[in-house]
Amino acid sequence: MDVVVVGSVNADLVVRVARRPAPGETVMGSDLDIFPGGKGANQAVAAARLGAHVALLARTGTDQYGTRLAEGLAGEGVDTGHVLPTEGAGGVALITVDADGDNSIIVSPGANARLSPEDVVGAAPLLEEASVVSLMLEIPLDTVTAAARAARRVLLNASPPRELPAELLSLADPLVVNEHEAAFLLGGASAGRAAAHDPTSDTAGDTTGDTAGDPTGRTAGDPTGDTARDAAGDGDGERGRGAVRDAAGMARDLLALGPRSVVVTLGADGAVVAEKAGAAVTAVPSPAVEAVDTTGAGDAFTGALAWRLARGDGLPEAAAFAARVGAAAVRREGAQSSYPRLEEL
Ligand code: RIB
Ligand code: NA
Repeated sequence: MDVVVVGSVNADLVVRVARRPAPGETVMGSDLDIFPGGKGANQAVAAARLGAHVALLARTGTDQYGTRLAEGLAGEGVDTGHVLPTEGAGGVALITVDADGDNSIIVSPGANARLSPEDVVGAAPLLEEASVVSLMLEIPLDTVTAAARAARRVLLNASPPRELPAELLSLADPLVVNEHEAAFLLGGASAGRAAAHDPTSDTAGDTTGDTAGDPTGRTAGDPTGDTARDAAGDGDGERGRGAVRDAAGMARDLLALGPRSVVVTLGADGAVVAEKAGAAVTAVPSPAVEAVDTTGAGDAFTGALAWRLARGDGLPEAAAFAARVGAAAVRREGAQSSYPRLEEL
């Protein structure tokens, strides 16, 4: 296997709204769409569509979605030998997409919460042989850590954000986060830094298509000094250089927490890559696209990144490719339903 994903499978229940309701308010939305989702399944499908050999270790429910989700994954060419049907409800994501294509997501974990370290033991040979094991945080942290221990190389997408044990962080190569997740992991001071650059705080887990203008982005001071030279200037997004410079600072701060390498994704502004303390941070651009639905664009980025790393690409090169895949994914509705095949890029 090129990539083994250990992660979540969800049914995405999606309604488009002109604007989200305030507490106590009711608003009318579009008809309901039901898409295959879950950050784990999304990564697996993103990589498979590009041509990767991918297996998924996951738990699906025995509800009305479980069988269909598992069959859909197999239909995409994902090895589902370790997708385990589990009595009861599966993962469900309640998603609203607004007029700008930005999403808000509530995940009910269902069977994903029962993916256990024992399940990882059951799949140990698969994990040990994979070039890259790709992980995210919609399953129990114990399970994520067990999978990381068994892997030759770990890609950890810290989404949705939560406190991470030092051991897990130290195994990540790379740790992949968006600005919100980076700020969360870095705590107070950095959270303020990120917030100053992004008033749209509803896209955790999604790394592309954030086109919100930010009047403060270009003038904010750069606390990282020497990273500005190597990391600024590639942003195609409206926020541009300021966001890239701040992300470079966050990437270096994150590296100090212990991961072997770090990627901070910036939506329309691409991503920054930090590989070695004291060395230059590399900025990679994202193609400019019209955002229709950013749901799962971060997972498309991560799945593509995992595949390119499995093939032996360097991290900046892999991230540049992944940014193109993430950008393609924001142009269509849904998560997996929007992921490109190699020939479309
Ligand atoms: O990252 C997008 C995904 O987050 C959706 O598919 C949804 O299922 C939630 O897991
Ligand atoms: Na999409």
